[in-house]
Amino acid sequence: HKTKRQYQPLSGKRVLVTAGPTIESIDAVRYFTNHSSGKMGYAIAESARDLGASVTLVSGPVTLEKPHGITVKDVTTAEEMYNTVLNDYDEQDIVVKAAAVADYKPVEQVENKMKKQSGPLSIEMKRTRDILQALGERKTKQYLVGFAAETDEPLVYGRDKMARKHLDAIVVNDISRDEQGFKTDTNAVDVLTAQERHETIPLQSKEAVAKQLWSILLEEM
Ligand code: CTP
Ligand code: CA
Repeated sequence: HKTKRQYQPLSGKRVLVTAGPTIESIDAVRYFTNHSSGKMGYAIAESARDLGASVTLVSGPVTLEKPHGITVKDVTTAEEMYNTVLNDYDEQDIVVKAAAVADYKPVEQVENKMKKQSGPLSIEMKRTRDILQALGERKTKQYLVGFAAETDEPLVYGRDKMARKHLDAIVVNDISRDEQGFKTDTNAVDVLTAQERHETIPLQSKEAVAKQLWSILLEEM
């Protein structure tokens, strides 16, 4: 891997990025997850590396290739992601939480395979911990960037999440449109900052969105 030496404004900075979905198991063969591909988070991590940062990528289960020059920590569940991210938090300068973390997990995880019954099935679920909320509450020097995946009123919910979780910026993804958000190779987002800046990044490859996101964040920090 060739490091691009021309322009390295993140040199000396530690950046932690989370990406991908989490998986919460039900029994020996079944699980709950979501449609996140991890592409946006991986592009953000690789772009930060190219800008000179020392990057840790905490990744849920994805089918993407391991990026060079980045420390990848693989996790499966929301709880594992919580523990890994919180453990590395103190030494980070910037944290970008692109992962699609499960909000709920089954109250009980059955060790063996459940057999089907004649009637319907209900599975009781309980809340997972909100990682980003925990980071916001423990924030010292870190510049904290969240994501918001929304289908209704993205900017309203995005602003609300930024305030509630004590974020410095939030990347708002309107996932009601086909070509942006989960599973796609392209994305279009709005970036809102605590400084009340609002930038729109138009539809393009996730790599290009990641580059533009960093140029906005670099101006803000
Ligand atoms: N997030 C997190 N831990 C969770 C849930 C979400 O760290 N248990 C983070 C995501 O990584 C993302 C941000 O919170 O950066 C927003 O996630 P999102 O699902 O859009 O918002 P929620 O706060 O979970 O609210 P809701 O799903 O109800 O819209
Ligand atoms: Ca959620």
